[in-house]
Amino acid sequence: MIAVLAAGVDEVLDVATQCASDDDRVAASERRTEELRRRTLAGRAALRLVAAWGRGVPLERASELEISRRCPDCTRAHGQPRSADLALSSSTSAGRVLVAIADPADAIGVDIETVPGQLWPGFDSYTLHPDEALGMPAGSASDGIAARIGTWTAKEAALKVSGRGLRTDPSSLRVDEHPDPEHDGWHRVHGAPLPRSAGSAGSGGSTPLPVSVRMLAVRGSARAAIAANRPQDVRLWTMPELLTELGCLPDTGYDEGELSHLT
Ligand SMILES: CC(C)(COP(=O)(O)OP(=O)(O)OC[C@H]1O[C@@H](n2cnc3c(N)ncnc32)[C@H](O)[C@@H]1OP(=O)(O)O)[C@@H](O)C(=O)NCCC(=O)NCCS
Repeated sequence: MIAVLAAGVDEVLDVATQCASDDDRVAASERRTEELRRRTLAGRAALRLVAAWGRGVPLERASELEISRRCPDCTRAHGQPRSADLALSSSTSAGRVLVAIADPADAIGVDIETVPGQLWPGFDSYTLHPDEALGMPAGSASDGIAARIGTWTAKEAALKVSGRGLRTDPSSLRVDEHPDPEHDGWHRVHGAPLPRSAGSAGSGGSTPLPVSVRMLAVRGSARAAIAANRPQDVRLWTMPELLTELGCLPDTGYDEGELSHLT
């Protein structure tokens, strides 16, 4: 099963900043603007919060969990987050955070994007496969913008599964329905690389299946997606739900009603 936390940057920083490690704080402090510093710190703290829950580690020790990031192209400690006992992924956009954990034998990717008022020039040629461009509503209309951002989040999530990210041209990927009715809600992403460790994607054979992706229902004007080497159950948590699960909510001073607009 994949566990996903969708939260607001402010609500994470209000109650879970202590989950961030010293390295996370350094990484956040190196971002260019205050907004990016807050987003990075919130994304890192939220990832550790959900990882601590997944590992059964008390929140006070979340900052000690071993999470590494190694770039294949440079010596900086950035890139796909990794740990020995969980598959991990994170994304932030404007005031939002999306983080996920799964079984370490699997590989996952998440992406969240706020739907903008208009798309940047060249969006379609950079992101859409020619077959996808054919079926899209006009990119100037609000439904066309939202549909394109949905496809973009699906592809970015799918490209995080392998750790290669946007080193692979997103327009070379094609998202279509999953042919197996058992995997209702999941789509396949043709052309997205799989990590070597993900094996045959649960098929029992030697041919890896395409990366699978499903959209997540997040509130507000955003699109969000979870991708994995194989379809599986997804549990989407809000922050108040996860804190309640962790037995923390009564001590936080939280008012769930006030916070519900953030996710
Ligand atoms: C992965 C990538 C798509 C993220 O894009 P983004 O829209 O800026 O950011 P998001 O908020 O959605 O995701 C950021 C998170 O994705 C994760 N991430 C970063 N690189 C990743 C990768 N290659 N694979 C999987 N996940 C990655 C990290 O958790 C990161 O959070 P962090 O900065 O706190 O560590 C983009 O950074 C990318 O394609 N990177 C690969 C190319 C690259 O890094 N080139 C430089 C080489 S020196």
